[in-house]
Amino acid sequence: FGGFLEHMGRAVYEGVYDPKSAHADRAGYRTDVLDALSRLKMTAMRYPGGNFASGYHWMDGIGPRDRRPTMRELAWQSLESNQFGTDEYIALCRRMGWTPMITVNLGTGTPEEARNWVEYCNAPPDSKYAQMRAENGAAETHNVKLWCLGNEMDGPWQLGHVPAGQYAIRAQQAGKMMKDVDKSIELVACGSCGVGMDTYMEWDRQVLEYMGDLADYISLHRYVGNHDDDTPDYLAVTASIDKQIEEMDTACRFVQAKTRSKKRAYLCFDEWNVWYRNHQADGAGKHAPHLIEEVYNLEDALVVAGFLNSFIRHADSVKIANIAQIVNVIAPILTRGDEMLLQSIFYAFEMFATRGTGVALQIGVDGPAYASKTYGEVTTIDTSAILDGDTLQVFATNRSLTDSAEFEIAVADRAIAGFNSGEVLTGPDPKAANSYEQPNLVTTGPLKGVEIKGGVATVMLPPLSVAAMTLKLGT
Ligand code: AHR
Repeated sequence: FGGFLEHMGRAVYEGVYDPKSAHADRAGYRTDVLDALSRLKMTAMRYPGGNFASGYHWMDGIGPRDRRPTMRELAWQSLESNQFGTDEYIALCRRMGWTPMITVNLGTGTPEEARNWVEYCNAPPDSKYAQMRAENGAAETHNVKLWCLGNEMDGPWQLGHVPAGQYAIRAQQAGKMMKDVDKSIELVACGSCGVGMDTYMEWDRQVLEYMGDLADYISLHRYVGNHDDDTPDYLAVTASIDKQIEEMDTACRFVQAKTRSKKRAYLCFDEWNVWYRNHQADGAGKHAPHLIEEVYNLEDALVVAGFLNSFIRHADSVKIANIAQIVNVIAPILTRGDEMLLQSIFYAFEMFATRGTGVALQIGVDGPAYASKTYGEVTTIDTSAILDGDTLQVFATNRSLTDSAEFEIAVADRAIAGFNSGEVLTGPDPKAANSYEQPNLVTTGPLKGVEIKGGVATVMLPPLSVAAMTLKLGT
């Protein structure tokens, strides 16, 4: 249930950090946005990019603010004022309870620059970069345990893109030096950034083989959309997310077997979301331009729920996942001046993340199915479940556009004894979206009518809905 905050568009400036806003606190953070984000109980927060990371030099963003340079950044053709940098990000993570997760620059940066960033964050203040941190106000270490070795380095659009073999060398050099500074850190190697890439799987095999046990995780990215305006097909995309995860896990297991290693790399799905309508990605030399401010509707919320169901079903291999992004840029939250809007996908994420602790269960669905145009046959209900002691969390999406579904829940070796709470997210039609004029068109309401009989729970799911419920198990 991680997030992703990139220096892109209005994600940082006018998003989480906006000293001029009526909602700004003394440090310049936007309290309305942070209050909304705290409802999402996000875990790891990836930063500072994204494509931005591949041209970013972290030292531009530390020290007295009036001495930080304004840079012309090339990923999004924007101006970067550097008023928000490493120390502001860490302060935000501490305040929000997020685990920091930093992407180093392996595009235009050097392995040594990446190593120095680890020293700045994690070393005691008795050497050059760690002393700088102390001078900038943090005697205590920032203790950043998760580090991504570049971003989407398989993509020709990436600053400093190179073929797999060359990336693997860079990543190995950086990763080794970074772990030499702090051996407790964990590293995410760049994997294939999309299932459509020509180098899909082969990139991953080469990188994992070369990096050996240095790679704790390999990254996956996925953006989906209703390109053909075919809602049933779009809602079936979950099947291909399952497939992508299983393929990448296969690459990890293949390399582990081939190299006879005791260690298997796990999956870090560090960018995922719906993104297909707004491709405004050229900042035209402006600071905080409006970039990819996607507006989300009900069907998008169901697809977001599908991603989360898939991650829970694959929790044995997917150890980290970050929705891209958190505010304004393809995000659950939008701002307009001092106003704020919660999008449909906000509610889907909230329903899951607030029920996110425990052990993911193996689930089976028995019920109606349909043949989708692109992704094969899928069951009408998409589901996942988490067990935490005697508490059972169940998530279910009804993909039918027209029919309610009677949804029966049974646990193989336990009886369901009670219903604690539940919400359902739905709306008037698949294209319904919240707006500043109608902010509550697509939102959650209480899930009613859960019946428990003979250790089994039953509830009616409306068409085009996501439900989440917390049940109590007996013996
Ligand atoms: O999230 C927006 C962009 O999408 C990221 O910067 C990049 O990694 C991906 O292509």
